[in-house]
Amino acid sequence: MDELIREIERHNELYYLRDEPEVSDAEWDALLRELQELEAAHPELLRPDSPTQRLGASPPTGAFPTVEHRVPMLSLDNAMNEGEFLAFLERVQRLAEQDAPLEYVGEPKLDGAGVELIYRAGRLEVGSTRGDGRKGEDVTANLRQCPTIPLTLHCDTPPQRVSVRGEVVLPHKAFERLNRLRREAGLDPFVNPRNAAAGALRQLHNIDRARLRSLEFRAYALAEGKPQGVQSQWQVLETLRSWGFGVTEQCARCPDPAAALAYHQRMLAAREDFPIEVDGTVFKVNSLALQEKVGNLPRSPRWAIAVKFPPQQATTVVEAIEVNVGRTGALTPVAKLEPVFVGGVTVSNASLHNQDEVERKDVRVRDTVVVQRAGDVIPQVVKVVESKRPKGTRRWKMPAACPVCGSEVVRLEGEAVTRCPNLDCPAQLKNNLFHIARRGALDIEGLGEKLIDQLVEAGRIARISDLFALDRDALLGLERMGEKSATNLIEALERSKDTRFSRFLIALGIRHVGEGVAELLARHFGGDLDALMAAPKEVLERVEGVGPTIAESVVSFFADRRNRAEVERLRQQGLRWPRSEPTAAVSGPLAGKTLVLTGTLDGMTREEAKERIEAAGGRVTSSVSKKTHYVVAGAEPGSKLARAEKLEIPVLDEAGLLELLGA
Ligand code: IVH
Repeated sequence: MDELIREIERHNELYYLRDEPEVSDAEWDALLRELQELEAAHPELLRPDSPTQRLGASPPTGAFPTVEHRVPMLSLDNAMNEGEFLAFLERVQRLAEQDAPLEYVGEPKLDGAGVELIYRAGRLEVGSTRGDGRKGEDVTANLRQCPTIPLTLHCDTPPQRVSVRGEVVLPHKAFERLNRLRREAGLDPFVNPRNAAAGALRQLHNIDRARLRSLEFRAYALAEGKPQGVQSQWQVLETLRSWGFGVTEQCARCPDPAAALAYHQRMLAAREDFPIEVDGTVFKVNSLALQEKVGNLPRSPRWAIAVKFPPQQATTVVEAIEVNVGRTGALTPVAKLEPVFVGGVTVSNASLHNQDEVERKDVRVRDTVVVQRAGDVIPQVVKVVESKRPKGTRRWKMPAACPVCGSEVVRLEGEAVTRCPNLDCPAQLKNNLFHIARRGALDIEGLGEKLIDQLVEAGRIARISDLFALDRDALLGLERMGEKSATNLIEALERSKDTRFSRFLIALGIRHVGEGVAELLARHFGGDLDALMAAPKEVLERVEGVGPTIAESVVSFFADRRNRAEVERLRQQGLRWPRSEPTAAVSGPLAGKTLVLTGTLDGMTREEAKERIEAAGGRVTSSVSKKTHYVVAGAEPGSKLARAEKLEIPVLDEAGLLELLGA
């Protein structure tokens, strides 16, 4: 589970921060699904920081300079139903110590990305994401591209410093248009408008300006720079409007709690009519003086609440139930649906997770089903509408043979997952090759998904070692493969043979052996493959961080004659690594990151900086390339800084570095 979490987080970073996803959304979904399955089966192992627990939360930080929010950006407490909302209204009435019913402002809850805009002397100075509420990321350059963000306030005598807060959203129409264009360009569509909006703001490379220009900013709060005489939230909204900000039209004054309830019902009925994604209503005590009296909790104000809409559902028909085969051979049934529009996206697939799940819900082909989308979770089949079941349908069963290679599938006792056991299954092979080619494993430049598909389908590769047996002629026979690319790939393959033991282990694709475990094994066995292959379970279990499941998996991998033969072939093809690994840390805040230093730092020498980065798991190289994660620039930086800027690689100052180091 830890491996999966690390892997998912790495993909999040690639997707959100580097704009360089290595896997399709579907593959990402599959990883998440695998994690969810494990968590469902072992709730005691559920980590509170698991990505399943914070879908849509801000992705890892560090790529942008941080900005402190002088006034913290609080979040809102949620009421999931009417009862919780009524309890809120009563509580506030009591805390406010007022006899007359309190007045509220009702606002649609916009499902986008919260941002803060700082204006100095009326000019936009900094725009930042909410981040953790105290510190966000400086995304000014991207925000400046949004046409609905005024660069200067429409105000003759603006306050010296103003903090406007609001939501950046991507209207449904723009979302659909962008996705159409992405599909046409062969790119994966965005999952939902919120992700597309948040991702747009955090772009670092190949900035997609069309996406930024489609964003809309809606203002809802003024945290600094309230003009004299502004005494209520309603006046705040009016001020924001007069300064040139877009404020959601549907905001309304609710003179008492009953009116607030009615407002919520009205918005719920109108939710489909909004041009943007709205996932609830927000109520704020109108009087600013009473807001202050009622006060704040550490994370959220006591004077406001978000009342959530129930997740959106729709009914559609199951056209087929297909089975996907993942990297570990896991078979996942997927319902192919007649496309249906739910909560701002068109859904045509829904995961059915596994055999038990299909049985429990008894989903059959041609059934009418209720599908639901909540947040950016993958669509789910909630239930079957049995009254609409046509005659002659049959219970669905997991196929006995792998749909890709025809091997008999297995389901182990106590496991929810059915697997294809064939290590040479093309589905697994493709996935394995993909896994091997990526950075962190053998790092084979130019070996992407499409090429892998071609190589496997053309029968050029049936097992990993075939990859290293490829020659130019074999490659030149492929579609769209020119001399140059063929030579480049051969060279990349040659380069990748010089590896590290841990990377070699990752490349073998042993179940449960991902980056972290590979590193532990590599260090323990000091690069001695024979010793590792011969190690019995008890010896492996003594390796720190290796438990019985991992040990078992390693032993059974090497017990398989075919795997041993494959390892031998790889060795003979010249895959090599230094004995006794360098002891650089692999965990730590900079694990897997490459940094370049330029200029003079204040508080430490270059050597010290290098040592500290390495101690935090990072690597320091001397030249800036596309693979550099950060450039740290001190005083009088050299040409490396210019190159970093050209390649749009995030540049940090010393403080930024210290922050990354967690100092
Ligand atoms: S007011 C102190 N108003 O919801 C009040 N927030 O869970 C905090 N949001 O971070 C913000 N619509 O990004 C406010 N009309 C609205 C909102 C809204 C959406 C977001 C905002 C905030 C999150 C809180």
